[in-house]
Amino acid sequence: MDAAPGTRHHTRTRPPETPPEATDPAIMDALVIRGGKPLQGRVLISGAKNAALPVMAATLLTPGVHTLRNVPLLRDTRTMADVLEKLGARIELGARACRIDTTNITSVEAPYDLVRTMRASIYVLGPLLARYGNARVSLPGGCAWGPRPVNLHLEGLKAMGAALEIDHGYIVGREVRLKGASFNFDVVSVGATAQLMMAAVRATGRTVLDNVALEPDITVLGDVLNRCGARISGLGTRRLVIEGVRELEPIDTTIIPDRIEAQTFLAAAAITGGSITLESCDPGDMAAAIQKLEETGCEILADANEVTITGPRRPHAVDVTTAPFPGFPTDMQAQMMALCSVADGTSVITDTIYLDRFTHVPELGRLGARIELKGNTAVVRGVERLSGAPVMATDIRASAALVLAALIAEGETRISRIYHLDRGYEALDQKLIKLGASIERIRE
Ligand code: UD1
Repeated sequence: MDAAPGTRHHTRTRPPETPPEATDPAIMDALVIRGGKPLQGRVLISGAKNAALPVMAATLLTPGVHTLRNVPLLRDTRTMADVLEKLGARIELGARACRIDTTNITSVEAPYDLVRTMRASIYVLGPLLARYGNARVSLPGGCAWGPRPVNLHLEGLKAMGAALEIDHGYIVGREVRLKGASFNFDVVSVGATAQLMMAAVRATGRTVLDNVALEPDITVLGDVLNRCGARISGLGTRRLVIEGVRELEPIDTTIIPDRIEAQTFLAAAAITGGSITLESCDPGDMAAAIQKLEETGCEILADANEVTITGPRRPHAVDVTTAPFPGFPTDMQAQMMALCSVADGTSVITDTIYLDRFTHVPELGRLGARIELKGNTAVVRGVERLSGAPVMATDIRASAALVLAALIAEGETRISRIYHLDRGYEALDQKLIKLGASIERIRE
């Protein structure tokens, strides 16, 4: 285990995941969208945020200079870079490659001010414990759609011998020696699977993880670690067996395409009745959404790394229930609801992953959508047209849903607080403008 940098102690309360401070002018940006133009053309899909963030955190597992290509330039990847810099890493986050030098880690504290802006900051916990035995990581709060627990991260690490304490809103581990253990996730969790996988690769002995997440982000994290010398078997199945190793090579990898960004563009073409081709995407990772879009009447042609979609004149209603991969992703629930809001017929949309993830419902209502919420199910009665209105973005995917609805709404829609969109989509407005959308970014 590497020599441990020190920790500091201070007191903080922990409100929900909160936006960056108003010192950043981009948080005052709004989008003004004039709807009605069918999208046409080709669009290049960026690297996946949800794949990049754990790989960035995994660079803490071993000293050296790591190279990550195709990291999307987003607020969230910038935040992860800030977290790593706070720990002493040196980072160049460029358009072509992200270089992370983790040779001189000087701190094991991920401060509240950063973790509160992005929950995925908690990914540094497992790698810090694995490499140094010490960590002090702020607890993330809930988020706009309710509480988002991290109990599985903590229980799993505890099963591996980490006597973690919660101290003034921080998760604290001191002089931990991680040992292989068996752990069963009673709920499938992307975050907790990545966390324990990273911890286990440098623990002593064998770890067996059951009921793990199968999301591509998880599988590729395992592949990346294995290429550095980790011994993870069972990737792509519900059971991972991980033999801890003493050393890993630095990471050198290319981040996979963002399947959620890709699916958002598919939904954008579908809602506008347009025809677009996605370049650099993996249709195999999008099967559930592609099937649902076909049910709405879209024509979709997929080959190895391109997808062409032609939207219907008016979509048919479809029922959607989110589920862990390979099911329909919770990260596409809001965008699908935007599409269903103009469908012919009534759609029933249920989110089984996050039961309160419906902040987009009242905002879509401002545009004329007819959506009734019953617990974690939305009954969407399709209307023939939406009309522009001022609305407010509330989280990444809810913001995307509002953009989609605005693309078809009559007149002008102003979407405020689009810093949420900038957290998760690389230049979404610019890419949509290239496809023919009428969008202006203004400072409010
Ligand atoms: C989830 C999604 C992921 C998406 C992300 C952001 C799933 C399985 N995961 O990932 O695809 O990109 O939201 O929208 O669809 N849970 C616990 N305890 C924990 C951790 C999680 O009870 O310690 C529960 C959550 O409350 C949730 C479920 O497990 O009901 C899945 O959570 P998890 O996959 O960890 O969430 P994210 O990693 O945020």
